[in-house]
Amino acid sequence: MSFGMHPEPAAVIAHLSDTHLLAGGALLAGLVDTESHLRDTAERLRVAAADADVIVVSGDVADLGEREAYALAREILEPVAAAIGAPIVWAAGNHDERPQMRTALGLGGDPLDPVDSVVDVGDLRIVSLDSSMPGWHHGGFDEGQAEWLAAALAEPPALGSVLVMHHPPLPYRSKLMRLLEFRDEGRLAQLLDAGDVRAILSGHLHVNGSGTFAEIPVILAGATSYADDLGGPPPALHGIDATQSFNIVEIYADSVAHTVVPALSHESRETLPAHIVEQVVQLDPAARMERFSRKPL
Ligand SMILES: [Fe+2]
Ligand SMILES: [Fe+2]
Repeated sequence: MSFGMHPEPAAVIAHLSDTHLLAGGALLAGLVDTESHLRDTAERLRVAAADADVIVVSGDVADLGEREAYALAREILEPVAAAIGAPIVWAAGNHDERPQMRTALGLGGDPLDPVDSVVDVGDLRIVSLDSSMPGWHHGGFDEGQAEWLAAALAEPPALGSVLVMHHPPLPYRSKLMRLLEFRDEGRLAQLLDAGDVRAILSGHLHVNGSGTFAEIPVILAGATSYADDLGGPPPALHGIDATQSFNIVEIYADSVAHTVVPALSHESRETLPAHIVEQVVQLDPAARMERFSRKPL
């Protein structure tokens, strides 16, 4: 049942990124409990994205590419995916290592091949492009991937495609991070020109952000591990063990919307008690508007 002028979304994507797990749940930089943060994320995702059709993890799954770190990611996220009935799409980031990632996540294929994938979820296609460059932290893709991408984007289903790539094809606010940007934008734009890509989902920068690339919305999920802090004193790069988040991306026939959800468990208070919400739900549409939208005279 929809309360407003819009229908329910045609497809829902739970989008998280940059989990940066270490083997055995070791603390990142000796400080950040990325395992605990992902466990919190999983529980919150189970509630906030219970209607998700797919879970997208847009790279930097492991911090050092360890097999055990990928196994841990699976152990934490697969039960949630099973509970909500959504497949997981794993994308590779610059901290990931293809052979370990392929093996430990059960992705199959040649160990050294890019971790590219395509899956249709109802009328939506999720195309995941491996933007990592082995041996480097900046992003790009090769000619074989370009051919693969052209084929994956051809003849899209009714809702079009969503492209997942770790490195966002955008200008970066952090000057130093521009060294680690996606460096094949021209070729990507040519390939996207012919397709029906509704949105590009990325991570890498550990910030919530958005922009456009070739007139396509680009949506960044903040990391679940730690956030980049652009408010820290320059010129150092600063991170904070706070404000971790994930996104819920909704695909409609004529629109794409995304919402940022706090990833870590925390105290929250009811801004509207449950019994009032239940009353509003029971009303007919006109009475509901009177009850919830009308301002007192
Ligand atoms: Fe990252
Ligand atoms: Fe990254």
